[in-house]
Amino acid sequence: MIRTIPAIRAACERTRAEERTVGFVPTMGAFHAGHRSLMRRSKDERDVTVVSIFVNPLQFGDARDLETYPRDERADLAVAEREGVDLVFAPSVDEMYPDGEPEVTIDPGPLGERFEGASRPGHFRGVATVVAKLFDAVGPCTAYFGEKDAQQLAVIRRMVVDLSLPIDVRSCPVVREPDGLALSSRNRLLTPDQREAATCLFLGLSEAAELARAGERDAGKLVAAMAREIGATSEARIDYVAVVDEDTFEDVATIDGRSRALVAARFGGVRLIDTLLLPAA
Ligand code: PAJ
Repeated sequence: MIRTIPAIRAACERTRAEERTVGFVPTMGAFHAGHRSLMRRSKDERDVTVVSIFVNPLQFGDARDLETYPRDERADLAVAEREGVDLVFAPSVDEMYPDGEPEVTIDPGPLGERFEGASRPGHFRGVATVVAKLFDAVGPCTAYFGEKDAQQLAVIRRMVVDLSLPIDVRSCPVVREPDGLALSSRNRLLTPDQREAATCLFLGLSEAAELARAGERDAGKLVAAMAREIGATSEARIDYVAVVDEDTFEDVATIDGRSRALVAARFGGVRLIDTLLLPAA
């Protein structure tokens, strides 16, 4: 395991000097099958797989959310080893932010203001800043992100293009529980009742996808159907429900092949998000 930026940089440079390709999976740890799917994809496609584990304080608006975020480095290292990950980079907060909160940060632009950005002010600035730092430490690579955090993926893609970063970004499908709940490190914070209620997110999304498949093009009708499904669940408090353009995350009025449904809701103190690309009928 590597703790410092110079050490991970040197290891990745050595790999490329040997003409071996680097796959990179940035994470905050507390591994589940979603994380493992990213590691496997990287293992399949690249010679050397690097996984970072860093719970980034800069992207948490809420001190309690940061405090309760699950951490289990020992278990994570065992998972990484089992998956055949070559290098784990697990820096301290001091290593990443030696002078405390950074003054120079990455502005995620208008995309960073919508939905997750509106609900969690500063979140995408924190994500973009840490991911830029991680990309700089790892160097030219193929980086794997989950479609589960679709807006994060869009922000990262935008950043890579706008800042001309030497990174090939690839997205991986959402991994779900058998009942449809998207895997998330936060799921383990749910009570049994909340866990059961949380299936309403995927039910709502599936209903929207069903309507789209049947030919419904009016985004408003899909939004209403999702809101009805999630709204009918007493443990759920809706944060937002929307249908947006896949790249810009602007609301759309009419479904086309690039429309994405988004849901976010709170179950007690636990906030969950989910998403589905809508089928074009
Ligand atoms: P984290 O929440 O640990 O997620 C790491 C990666 O796993 C992200 O790309 C996320 O989209 C992906 N992921 C999470 N749940 C998934 C699921 N059910 N199916 C498929 N992929 C899933 O996202 C972050 O960390 C951080 O914001 C980070 C990018 C590391 C920056 O701090």
